[in-house]
Amino acid sequence: MHTDVVEDLATLRERIHGWKRSDLRVGFVPTMGNLHAGHASLVELAHAHCDRVVASSFVNPTQFGAGEDFARYPRTPQADIELLGASGCDLLWRPSVDSMYPHGIDAAVQLHVPALTDVLEGAHRPGHFDGVASVVARLFNQVQPDVAVFGRKDYQQLAVIRRLVRDLSFPVDIVSGETIREADGLAMSSRNQYLSAQERSRAADIHRVLLRMRDAAIGGQPHSRIEADANEALAAVGFEVDYAVLRTPELQTPPTGLAGPRVALVAARLGRTRLIDNLEFLIPD
Ligand code: PAJ
Repeated sequence: MHTDVVEDLATLRERIHGWKRSDLRVGFVPTMGNLHAGHASLVELAHAHCDRVVASSFVNPTQFGAGEDFARYPRTPQADIELLGASGCDLLWRPSVDSMYPHGIDAAVQLHVPALTDVLEGAHRPGHFDGVASVVARLFNQVQPDVAVFGRKDYQQLAVIRRLVRDLSFPVDIVSGETIREADGLAMSSRNQYLSAQERSRAADIHRVLLRMRDAAIGGQPHSRIEADANEALAAVGFEVDYAVLRTPELQTPPTGLAGPRVALVAARLGRTRLIDNLEFLIPD
């Protein structure tokens, strides 16, 4: 299948209004490009809910902190178009920085989602979720999708987007897709290619530690011990750990010993590469 690439807002609106006039439901998958099978799975999921699927590719400068990898973030436009064609994407929206932030980045209107963004990724990447919320709101207004699909790989990002949509009454249904992994369990990510061969061989330890955290929590171990063990296990194989924690689905600290849904979340660095992953599970009665 052929994916049309659109780079100006007037053409985008014309295409999408045409579909809407024909009563076609429009699904949307926002990305920063450098696409992999995780992104492709979201396009396929969007197709299961919608008649037409739009993906966007925009490396959003406002969600990168000073010293982060904005300049070296991998950009692979040709391969992205091929992957989108193969996964059935109808249109790729590729805005420029100037059209996204017409008054410049410093003068841009910004959104802030409180509380939820003070912890975990928000605590370690100040301003990151303001940048995400601000660009996703712009993208929703440009594309005006019926459904937007996000990966559960970025668990806290998904929570921020759900809050944004409810609080600002965006007429968009949010659908989430499962995390697609490499054969050894490493969650697919554009940042995996920063890893040296030696780092790559250790990177799947994050997933192994998440599985151990799950088993220990289901086995009734105290949370403080589970989190300390996870930190220690990751540090022992060379990770610098930002956090390795157990949370409720709302990212609150869960009560030890009670049944219910949980998520284990890890962020850790191997050399220059920062990786995040998570695992959802249920502590049964
Ligand atoms: P990006 O990192 O390109 O991710 C785009 C979407 O793909 C997100 O919803 C993310 O959760 C999902 N994704 C990434 N890796 C995945 C995997 N292994 N399995 C399944 N889904 C995966 O997230 C962003 O871009 C940006 O913050 C964005 C939302 C586009 C705003 O700029």
